[in-house]
Parts: sequence; structure tokens; C-alpha cells
Amino acid sequence: MNINKVNAVVTGGGSGLGEGTAKYLKDKGANVFLIDLNEDNLKKVSSEIDAEYFVGDVSDPNLMSEAIANLDNINCLVNCAGIAVGSKVVSSRGMHDLGLFEKVLKINLLGSFNLIRLCADKMQHNDPDENGERGIIINTASVAAFDGQIGQAAYSASKGGIAGMTLPIARELAIHGIRVNTIAPGLFGTPMLTGMPDEVQKSLIATTLFPKRLGTSYEYALLVESVVTNVMLNGETIRLDGSVRLAPK
Ligand SMILES: NC(=O)c1ccc[n+]([C@@H]2O[C@H](COP(=O)([O-])OP(=O)(O)OC[C@H]3O[C@@H](n4cnc5c(N)ncnc54)[C@H](O)[C@@H]3O)[C@@H](O)[C@H]2O)c1
Repeated sequence: MNINKVNAVVTGGGSGLGEGTAKYLKDKGANVFLIDLNEDNLKKVSSEIDAEYFVGDVSDPNLMSEAIANLDNINCLVNCAGIAVGSKVVSSRGMHDLGLFEKVLKINLLGSFNLIRLCADKMQHNDPDENGERGIIINTASVAAFDGQIGQAAYSASKGGIAGMTLPIARELAIHGIRVNTIAPGLFGTPMLTGMPDEVQKSLIATTLFPKRLGTSYEYALLVESVVTNVMLNGETIRLDGSVRLAPK
């Protein structure tokens, strides 16, 4: 798909990878619609790039239905909204809280799927482009989907779910000319990660092969652009990680 023909919904657009993607796409001539829970961040980003936005929880079916209702020309969804939590299954503080496990799955996995179904429902009615394309869906998993650390049971399950649903959804939506791919980032310098203690960040970076630093949201957005523009990319989960392999802890 031609990048300047893109009308994208970007969830998590108020911060980090979503913010970087929204700014990059806008810079390349795309139209962008932002969704996030954090209204202050959304206002800031939307005023910087002159984009419309909607404040709400991606896992809320009614709210998201309202958010997408009037967007009739959506041809791109970039699912970036997500949360990361750490908790052991059993520890001196007791068992993993079941509500916390459910919350992570609800926001990361169900929230991504919620936007996929709502946007695909719109995209199927688009006129196809010269490649027969009507839409492109890009999700954000994590390398923790494959080499999750101790304490990442909930997060890894949610991201593994995103990787797992990528191919079946791509298979189903192919008939409509809608591609579905997932990016699995390694370690990126967004508030999600830079909020961790310095020693934790350093030990994580040490497990990266090259380059030995955190990735940037610009580098994530570069891959979004490749996925959007390269029609042969479909049904795949792509690691973007400097070949990091997370250690058990
Ligand atoms: N930063 C990393 O190293 C890294 C690595 C692997 C995967 N990821 C994934 O990338 C995605 C983006 O994360 P980031 O690093 O930009 O973090 P971030 O915290 O900067 O951004 C996440 C955004 O999602 C929003 N959000 C959270 N819950 C939401 C909800 N229920 N509804 C709507 N918006 C919600 C937050 O308000 C925030 O703006 C996440 O899915 C994260 O799991 C990040």
C-alpha cells in the first residue's frame, strides 16, 4: 500500500512506539487517527501532528465501536496500546493475582483483537487498490512472546496470543485483500522501559547482540512503513530486536 494513501488508526498513539509511528506516518503523508487512554498525552501528540483522537480503553467494545464508527476510509490499523506488568506465579508475597493476569490479557490481547475486528469490518468495504489491497493490520507483540522472563507469565501469554492469532486472521481476511502482520519488538526506549531502574535496563541491554542500546520509536516506525508498503509481507510475526534473547531473569 502506498504510504501517502494510508488512513491509519494508531492505538497507544499518546506515547512511545504508537506516538513515534503516528508522527512518522503523518510525516510521510498519511492520515492518522489516535486512540489512547491518556488524554493529556493524546492532546499533546495530536496538536503536534494535527491528528484527531479518541480517549478510551481499547478493550471496551462499546467505546471502541464509537471511536471507529465515523471512520469510513480506514485502511490501516497499528495496534500499539499495551501494558507491561511483572509478577511471579508464586513468591513470598503469595500467588500471582488472577485479576492482574486477566487485566493484562484483556488490554494487550483482547484490546488488540477488538480493534482488529472493528477495523476489518470497515476495511472489507474499501475499494481495492492496484494490488487488490483493502487494508493492512499491524499488531505489536514482544520478544517476550518467545523468550519471556521469570515474572512475565501474563505479559508473555498476552503477546504470545497476539503472535498466535496473526496467521489465522491473515488467512481469514485474505479474501478481502487485508493483510495482517505483527511486530515483536525487543527493547525500546519508551516510557514502558525507561521507567525501569537503570541496572535493570543495563542488564537487559547486555543481552542484545548488536546494537547494544535500546531501539527507538523511529526504528519501529521504519518497520511499520516496510510492512505497509511491501504487499508480500503477510501473516508473519517479525522480531525487531538487535537479536536480543532475553535471559530467564
Ligand atoms: N518498549 C519496549 O521495549 C517494548 C518491547 C516489546 C513490546 N512493546 C509493546 O509495544 C507497545 C507500545 O509500548 P510502548 O513501549 O510504546 O509503551 P508506552 O507505555 O510508551 O505506550 C503504551 C501506550 O498504550 C496506552 N494504553 C495502555 N493501556 C491502554 C488501554 N487499555 N487502552 C488504550 N490505550 C492504552 C498508554 O496510555 C500508552 O500511551 C505495547 O504493546 C508494548 O507491550 C514494547
